[in-house]
Amino acid sequence: MALAAASAKAKSDRMRITLLAETLVCMCIAQVSSLVATAPTTSSVPSAIETIESANARLGRGINLGNALEAPSEGAWGVTLKADYFQQIRAAGFDTVRLPVRWSAHADLAAPYAIEPTFAARVDWAIDQATAHGLNIVVNVHHNAAFDDNPESELVRMTALWDQLAERYQHRPTTVYFELYNEPHGKLSGETWNAAVPVLLQAVRRTNPTRPLIIGPDGWNDIGRLAALRLPADDRNLIVTVHYYSPFQFTHQGASWVKGADQWLGRSWSGDEKALAEVRKELEKAALWGRENQRPIFLGEFGAFSKADAESRERWTRFVATEARRLGLSWAYWEFCSGFGAYDAKAEAWREPLKEALMAAP
Ligand code: BGC
Repeated sequence: MALAAASAKAKSDRMRITLLAETLVCMCIAQVSSLVATAPTTSSVPSAIETIESANARLGRGINLGNALEAPSEGAWGVTLKADYFQQIRAAGFDTVRLPVRWSAHADLAAPYAIEPTFAARVDWAIDQATAHGLNIVVNVHHNAAFDDNPESELVRMTALWDQLAERYQHRPTTVYFELYNEPHGKLSGETWNAAVPVLLQAVRRTNPTRPLIIGPDGWNDIGRLAALRLPADDRNLIVTVHYYSPFQFTHQGASWVKGADQWLGRSWSGDEKALAEVRKELEKAALWGRENQRPIFLGEFGAFSKADAESRERWTRFVATEARRLGLSWAYWEFCSGFGAYDAKAEAWREPLKEALMAAP
């Protein structure tokens, strides 16, 4: 009897164990198949062990979803994000979207500087869309004029923003990149910017110890300011970003936000040897700084405004994009569907020559 009971118990234990094992196998299969269902179809799936150089290479060719979430409120500058945009961007062959976000307009002015939940949920949605479409996404902090004007006193609030963002997105895949702050300028320069970087970095690293993090030099992320940028030597998960809009009087002709820009209307870009050499020299300077400092480089913005003639814009865009790729820089065009737009949101179609100029480089 005792023997029979013991063997029945052993049997039921075995069955329980088998059942448990089967359940676990099923759960794993379900997990894997749900991953497969949403998995990006390209190289943007990171391998388990990745260097910062390969994380940067993975950014590849990107485009800025500009004038949407960094406007004072979404839609105020004519762009409201749609799920279809992510689909279009992926289908065109881009690897990455950069998402400029004006967090400072959607957070309390007093401690603990809480970010508005509905605004954060909108950014969550954009991250979900990018991820579901197999795109990397660079989420930044864009336009915080108070920080540029009063860096010392505003650092507390900026740090609180990063505390919240970093915590919120800590469990996102490594296809989600953070960028500390777009185009520091004004009083946020030199040693003031260099002193702010480790403070903000620490806020991120508390919850995201190894996530690829993008940081650029002061002077509006100017290549010429790379030499002044100081980064913590022991953090090897940093990508350095620069922006390129030269010749400025060509790329920003007629830009309403740049004083005097109407006087530059009609400037073309010939792409003659001298013009090519100027671009090459600047981008090579960035690439060289990256090699010397062992920091991969992301050209996070470049573009020519739609008031310039179409042929010049295409020539310039093709050359910058191609040179950047030749030099091993990842990049993101400025921008998707507004004044520099490679995509015509009204016609719901790409401006093919511009898109082809961007995709020309192997
Ligand atoms: C700014 C945009 C501007 C673009 C080109 C970006 O960094 O945030 O407002 O349109 O540069 O000037």
